[in-house]
Amino acid sequence: MDNIDDENKRKVTIAGAAVAAYVVGATASLLLNIPIKPYTNKDYEREKYMEDILTSEELCRANLRMGIQPFHRLCSLVRDKGLMQDDKNCKVKEVMMRFLNLMGHNVRHRVLEARFHHSRETISRQFNKTLNFILKLYKCLVNDHAELVYASRVPFEISSNPRYATYFRDCVGTLDGTHVVASVPIELQD
Ligand SMILES: *[C@@H]1O[C@H](CO)[C@@H](O)[C@H](O)[C@H]1NC(C)=O
Repeated sequence: MDNIDDENKRKVTIAGAAVAAYVVGATASLLLNIPIKPYTNKDYEREKYMEDILTSEELCRANLRMGIQPFHRLCSLVRDKGLMQDDKNCKVKEVMMRFLNLMGHNVRHRVLEARFHHSRETISRQFNKTLNFILKLYKCLVNDHAELVYASRVPFEISSNPRYATYFRDCVGTLDGTHVVASVPIELQD
C-alpha cells in the first residue's frame, strides 16, 4: 500500500512540476514577447507537398522532370526489382521524389530538409542509397545504342540541330532538357 501511495505521490509531483514549467514558460514568453512556435504536423505537410506534385502534371514535370505516370512506373520498377521496399520510415515514392528533385535542379540537402521535414543526415544517407540502386537500373533505363539503328532512332531535336548533332551523335533519346551537373577533375578536363 505504501508503495502505491509513494508511486502516486511521485506522479503527482511530476505532473505538478510539468504544469509549473509550462506556466513559467508561457508567462515568460508573454512577458518577453517571445512567439510560441506554432505546432507543425510534419507528416501532414510532407504528404500534402507530395500530393500536390503528384496530382498536377505540370508541377510534376517542373519538379521531377518527368510526368506522373512515368514517375509511378519508375517507383514500381524499383519495387519489382527488389531494390527498395516501402516501410514505416521510408517510402519509395518519397525517396524517389527527393532524388529526382535533387538531380533535376541541383537542390541542396538543406532545402530538402525543410521541404520534407527530415534531418540532413537522413536525406544524405537515403540519397546515397538511391543513387546506388538507380545506377543498377541503367540496363532498363538507358538505351543501348549499339542495338538501335542510328538514323531511325535519333530524336529529331538532336539530328536537326547542328549544335547537338555532332556531339550527341550516339546519345539515342537521352536529351530531354535535364541538366545534370557533373564535375570533371582538372587533369581530365582537356
Ligand atoms: C553520402 O556520400 C557522400 C559522398 O560519398 C559522403 O560524403 C556522405 O558522407 C554520405 N552520406 C552519408 C550520410 O553517409
